[in-house]
Amino acid sequence: MSKNKIVIDPVTRIEGHLRIEVEVDEDNVVTEAWASGQLFRGIEIILKGRDPRDVGLIAQRICGVCTNVHYRASISAVEDAYSITIPQNAEIIRNLVTMALFVQDHIIHYYHLHSLDFVDITSALEADCAKAVTMAQQYHENPYRNSEGHLESVKEKLGSFVKAGRLGLFSNGYWGHETYRFTPEENLVHMNHYLEALRIQHDISKAIAIFAGKTPHPQNLVVGGVTSVADMLNPQRLNDFMFIIKEVREFLERAYIPDIKMVVKAYADSIERGEGRGCGNFLCCGGYRLPNKEQLFVGGVITGHDFDAVQAFDPSKITEEASRSWYESNPPSSPYDQDSTPFYTDLNEDGTLKSEGKYSWVKAPRYEGKVMEVGPVARMIMGVVKESPVIKPYMDRFMSESGMKLIDFSTSVGRNAARAVEAQVCCDYLFDFMSDLIENIKYYDETTWTKYVFEELPTTSKGAGIFEVPRGILSHFVKIQEGKVSNYQVVAPTTWNASPKDATGQRGPYEEALIGIKLSDPSRPLEVLRVVHSFDPCLACAVHVIDTKGRELSHYKIQTVCSV
Ligand code: CA
Ligand code: NI
Repeated sequence: MSKNKIVIDPVTRIEGHLRIEVEVDEDNVVTEAWASGQLFRGIEIILKGRDPRDVGLIAQRICGVCTNVHYRASISAVEDAYSITIPQNAEIIRNLVTMALFVQDHIIHYYHLHSLDFVDITSALEADCAKAVTMAQQYHENPYRNSEGHLESVKEKLGSFVKAGRLGLFSNGYWGHETYRFTPEENLVHMNHYLEALRIQHDISKAIAIFAGKTPHPQNLVVGGVTSVADMLNPQRLNDFMFIIKEVREFLERAYIPDIKMVVKAYADSIERGEGRGCGNFLCCGGYRLPNKEQLFVGGVITGHDFDAVQAFDPSKITEEASRSWYESNPPSSPYDQDSTPFYTDLNEDGTLKSEGKYSWVKAPRYEGKVMEVGPVARMIMGVVKESPVIKPYMDRFMSESGMKLIDFSTSVGRNAARAVEAQVCCDYLFDFMSDLIENIKYYDETTWTKYVFEELPTTSKGAGIFEVPRGILSHFVKIQEGKVSNYQVVAPTTWNASPKDATGQRGPYEEALIGIKLSDPSRPLEVLRVVHSFDPCLACAVHVIDTKGRELSHYKIQTVCSV
């Protein structure tokens, strides 16, 4: 039996540098997979020896996309170490910014990073615009920007790209691939919303900057609270924020959700085959307290797709190890005690990864020794099985309208469905957070910072900031000795999902989800991209010096590694 290896390096339309290597059998079915983070940034090392009040500004540089969430988790870890409780207004302002980021991230991920794995842009040029108008009405009674004239202009715009031979950002697609399922009209409606989403995501940045000063890399958080005092007390600023969020809500309701329903219908065969189904272990920490004291997300642990046996989340059960990662030998231990001293074993001369031994800059986080999938799908499934009054109504509605069952969310298409539902939940609850803030201000609660005297804080302590963020659970762990950071460790959502194998050989979630995928054309491995993109990889986050040796510039290559 001959086995071929397919290497995709770099995987594009993600954040950071990811290499995916799969082994396929003679029927082109994936039998083994390796996910390799190709980036080392050493932020955890840079943070050692710093004043704990400074780490937030440095830690947010871990990623250029997820800046707010690293900033927040880092500041929160220090607050935890010092037992500082922040005022309610500070928490609400932090939540307004983080929730707006959830919505923005999900929109960008689906439309700009992932939708072209489902949408064939070249086919959209053959669409009949009048037919496209009525087709879209099957998914919403008033689809977003859906006039025939507007769709004609979208088609013209796309056509001019193609005619000029300058596909630009669209030049690297596997256009015409036999697994594309949409009709020309469905492709056109999607591309219309792809272009609209560019404007929407830009508007959300403006909303975030109202409280955060700027984005990416906001500036409004300090240990003890927030600095957005003048913004909070200016009704015009609050109104500007909500005006943008209202427009975004329209987009979610009339474009994103209907488009995802279209994917669920057109790619029903992919869901049916369970393409992209992973380990079935899901981890959520929950969080974001609502005005009625309910949590927006519920915590819990599910293993082996057993939705009837949910365990409580216990952060002390998180370990990390680096037996297959490019770090000096790290047996499983609490992240507080992990070390990030790099140990890079390089590539073979032919450019292949050393599949024996170490192959990624991503470490292997585990929960009670088990590999865990994190992210919107984990949160939405958890919300249903734990009967969250927040999440369940949204999921119930989506499931009844799309015909999806809970197990169907544990697929590539399903991750997208969960993400879209979650975007809607986060957007709607922004209104609750805002009314809570206005209520406080009305009753003269204008506190945004908890006063402390630094000299009186303990000089030795440790703390963690653990949050649900767009891609899953983010945790920052800080140890303080003699008033300085003595160790700093981050376990990001992509660290969980892009994890390499561990000492016991357990595959990471991307790797597990790739097993059994059948490729229709190994020279155009679109099916692999569909699986990997569905997780919304953020490799910059996962491995917090880019290696320039041995980098493959081609989009993919195929090599026969053995014949047995
Ligand atoms: Ca780490
Ligand atoms: Ni990131």
